[in-house]
Amino acid sequence: MEIRFLNANDASRYWKIRLEALECEPEAFGASAEEHRASTVDDAAARLSSDPANNFVVGSFLGERLVGTAGFFRNKGLKERHKGHIWGVYVTRAARGKRAGRDMLRMLLERAISIEGIEQIMLSVATTQDAAASLYRSLGFESFGCERRALKLGDRYVDEENMVLYLKPLAST
Ligand SMILES: CC(C)(COP(=O)(O)OP(=O)(O)OC[C@H]1O[C@@H](n2cnc3c(N)ncnc32)[C@H](O)[C@@H]1OP(=O)(O)O)[C@@H](O)C(=O)NCCC(=O)NCCS
Repeated sequence: MEIRFLNANDASRYWKIRLEALECEPEAFGASAEEHRASTVDDAAARLSSDPANNFVVGSFLGERLVGTAGFFRNKGLKERHKGHIWGVYVTRAARGKRAGRDMLRMLLERAISIEGIEQIMLSVATTQDAAASLYRSLGFESFGCERRALKLGDRYVDEENMVLYLKPLAST
């Protein structure tokens, strides 16, 4: 499996796998398939190419096929620039269990940690997504709370666990 950063040339493949993720795992993501269908491949290209130093997506490929993604962005505000966020972590069902998720997150974290000024990396994971939560914990993320009813899908609610990876020891602050 090849793991690399996506760029604007990957926009069409990226748009399709993102739709698959939102359709197949609606509880795992805050965005909805309906909203995604209203966006364009050009929007995806812009997302993959604007401010790549602070905003990027790692992809996992089986041959030419994009089978996994993991996104990162850094907060922009002066008081929140020390924080980054992981989003859109997904591996297509047939490709799961082969370390694509772990390898993508390792590549993502390596680059995120190298960004000057980043001190902590945040994410939210639905309490229904055991594999993802276990992967994040194994990479050093710790839980700092649960947001009850974080998402509402029709008349059903999904809780989310908030997690953080501190890069700077808390004792030194
Ligand atoms: C989470 C996800 C990306 C993992 O992808 P993957 O390529 O199958 O994961 P890997 O093969 O790299 O496994 C990495 C770790 O994930 C955890 N994991 C993977 N599959 C698991 C399972 N079925 N049950 C429990 N833990 C599991 C394990 O900690 C595993 O590490 P190990 O193999 O050393 O035990 C994938 O399951 C997925 O796309 N899930 C649906 C979407 C989702 O929940 N996204 C997260 C949004 S926050």
